[in-house]
Amino acid sequence: MTQKITVIRGDGIGPEIMDATLYVLDQLGAGLEYEFADAGVVALEKHGDLMPKETLDSIERNRIALKSPLSTPIGGGFTSINVSLRRHFDLYANVRPAKSFPNTKSRFGEGVDLITVRENTEGAYLAEGQEVSADGQTAISGTRITRKGSERIVRYAFELARNTGRKKVTAVHKANIIKSTSGLFLTVAREVAAQYPDIEFQEMIVDNACMQLVMRPEQFDILVTTNLFGDIISDLCAGLVGGLGLAPGANIGEHAAIFEAVHGTAPDIAGKGIANPCALLLAAAQMLDHIGQPQNAERLRKAIVATLEAKDSLTGDLGGSAGTMDFAKAIASRI
Ligand code: NAI
Repeated sequence: MTQKITVIRGDGIGPEIMDATLYVLDQLGAGLEYEFADAGVVALEKHGDLMPKETLDSIERNRIALKSPLSTPIGGGFTSINVSLRRHFDLYANVRPAKSFPNTKSRFGEGVDLITVRENTEGAYLAEGQEVSADGQTAISGTRITRKGSERIVRYAFELARNTGRKKVTAVHKANIIKSTSGLFLTVAREVAAQYPDIEFQEMIVDNACMQLVMRPEQFDILVTTNLFGDIISDLCAGLVGGLGLAPGANIGEHAAIFEAVHGTAPDIAGKGIANPCALLLAAAQMLDHIGQPQNAERLRKAIVATLEAKDSLTGDLGGSAGTMDFAKAIASRI
């Protein structure tokens, strides 16, 4: 049986890494049918809209999208397309795994295998009530945390732990100082944790969590946290395992899910055919897990690891000299 997914080829290095990813997915025989849709600068040029209605309709229909990075033009009143997409489909869970891979430039050769689960729709990124006083001396921005938002993200983290055999969930917060918003998140996290006695629950203040992640990342399994802390912590975790070229992310809601690389459009190397396709490939593996193809997800991850181990077709960011498609072909040959 085939499954139709929406594919957004994106801007900058987007089309290059997407072509490489689809090549590998085809070799995997995952039975996927692609519905291509435009977004970003490409869509603005073609349709006069950064996020055309046809693209939103396509995601709405297929409920699953694989997306390359998009650039939002700076200035001109454009809202970030990524933020708009998350809001439009209420993609509340941003799931970012960080795992040690062989032959990367990471300081930790091995032992990191954690997932950051970040609340994606509220908190400091709500950007409500932003104000700068008339004299330019004072600026204010609002943060809103809800019981509903906190409960569903913490529950998502615990369910993810149960479904993937993980043992521990760490709630990261700053409730000692930000007693209202971070306090509510922590209160709800404790309540939800009590319903999962089979999973160890740990609480950690965000500044300590950052230090612990750098000192002893192997102690973490799943981290769950609010929007701003999650954004920063997940990039820190990407750094622990060798950078953005290996960092995938899923944006998951009740009715739709969008899978993407954490990195951006890399304008400095766009069009040269030298971008590392692994982050998008790893996002595709997350997508395969999500659509009920865990064996194919594992085959794909193993082929990526085997290619990193063999070190024969790596892109420049990993110390090699191969192109994007050669890297993808080497991965596909190991499936
Ligand atoms: P970036 O992630 O595009 O690039 C940062 C550095 O990492 C650059 O030196 C780039 O060459 C390198 N890099 C990134 N991905 C790579 C890959 N796959 N292989 C090898 N090297 C790679 O971040 P930057 O420059 O801050 O953002 C550029 C554009 O991307 C901006 O317009 C931004 O809005 C957009 N962006 C889009 C995102 C999305 O669609 N999810 C996420 C982040 C940024």
